[in-house]
Amino acid sequence: MNRVQKYFNKLQHELIKAAEAQNRYDFETVNLIAPASPTSMKYFSDYHLHNAIAEGLLNNRPYAGAEAFNKIEKIAAKVACQLFSADHANVQPHSVSQANQAVYQALLKNGDKVLAMKFHAGGHLTHGLNINFSGRFFNFKFYGVNSKGFIDYKEIEKIALRVKPKMMVCGASSYPRKIEFVKLKNIADKVGAYLLADLSHPAGLIVTGKFPQPFPYCDVVTFTPDKTLLGPHGGIILCKKELSDQIDKAVHPGVQSSVPLRRIFHTALNLIDAGKPEFRKFINRLLINMKVFEKEFSKYPGLMITGGSDTHLMVLNTYKTFGLKGNEAEKLLEDIGILTNRQVIPNEQFGPYVASGIRLGATWITARGCSANDTRLIAKIILANLENPNDLKLQKKSKQKLSMFLSVKRKNDVWNDEINKKLEI
Ligand SMILES: Cc1ncc(COP(=O)(O)O)c(C=O)c1O
Repeated sequence: MNRVQKYFNKLQHELIKAAEAQNRYDFETVNLIAPASPTSMKYFSDYHLHNAIAEGLLNNRPYAGAEAFNKIEKIAAKVACQLFSADHANVQPHSVSQANQAVYQALLKNGDKVLAMKFHAGGHLTHGLNINFSGRFFNFKFYGVNSKGFIDYKEIEKIALRVKPKMMVCGASSYPRKIEFVKLKNIADKVGAYLLADLSHPAGLIVTGKFPQPFPYCDVVTFTPDKTLLGPHGGIILCKKELSDQIDKAVHPGVQSSVPLRRIFHTALNLIDAGKPEFRKFINRLLINMKVFEKEFSKYPGLMITGGSDTHLMVLNTYKTFGLKGNEAEKLLEDIGILTNRQVIPNEQFGPYVASGIRLGATWITARGCSANDTRLIAKIILANLENPNDLKLQKKSKQKLSMFLSVKRKNDVWNDEINKKLEI
């Protein structure tokens, strides 16, 4: 065996070890990272579709042998349209960043004005941050939130009338409240702007009627199935009929070339599941668990940005309440086995790698079968530790408690009706 082969063997060994360690870690920690969701293995196991990769749009591919490919993609798009009451779906984007890129490319020219939510208020990188392609190629202007952390539609209207954007963007990474698409549509109409909603986070809530419906108010919606929909990662664009050609061409050949059929197949299976009654039960449980978090955290006025949450996520101002910066709170919780992420808050005073708070959500724990009582236990452990960040004994005890609790949860697969039945007993 030559030196390079030996080196590759060593790397292969390390790779497998790292994957095994991550697998174990997934079951040894309580994952409250808001967009994290475990994807059911059932989407990955049965059909391999090894060779299915093709370019081009549905029914128009410069590739032979795409008959089944077309059928699978058509079904994925049909289900997506049905779930969201959309006219048209493009399920090809590899990610939501890429989906957003395609939407901007389809409807804007470089330098056009876009009005979007500020990053600190909850907006996403691809909504105009100057270090992202969006902020580099388009002229983004921003709206924030009011002093309580809520979207202020009157303020948006004022800014829109002044700026006259060609597009308005809503949807966010860390906004814990509902979005009133009707109001945004009225504003967009007044200034003749397209309305794009990036609904990566609440997609699962929308298909179960627990979040306002984006259509017919938005012109375009983007989302990924891998957050509250419990599906595989990827990007989907939904739009009104009259924009479908522009959007499709912006995806291909605009921003991407080939499409892996396997992901589209998994996506279609997942979206079909999202229309089933079991998924509705999952979302109901998720929202119940979030209400438990809300109740526990409300014991500290000012801790939750906006005072609570209507969704699967919330943001805690740990700096104001406990004197802990976001990175410190994140690390403290990580050390006892609870995963969250540091989070910038409205009017943030620190950079994004420090931040004033943390973001957390209940998607992962609900999908793993956590009941309201389990969620209460987790909330109490979080609060006790944030209140006493230097209490090493408490940290040790909390870690043990969580580890015992997780050993019971370990057997559960991702959400299914069996988990639901167990919780109902
Ligand atoms: C609102 C929002 N948009 C876009 C994205 C980017 O998605 P992707 O990672 O698929 O590019 C995210 C990612 O978390 C998000 O929260």
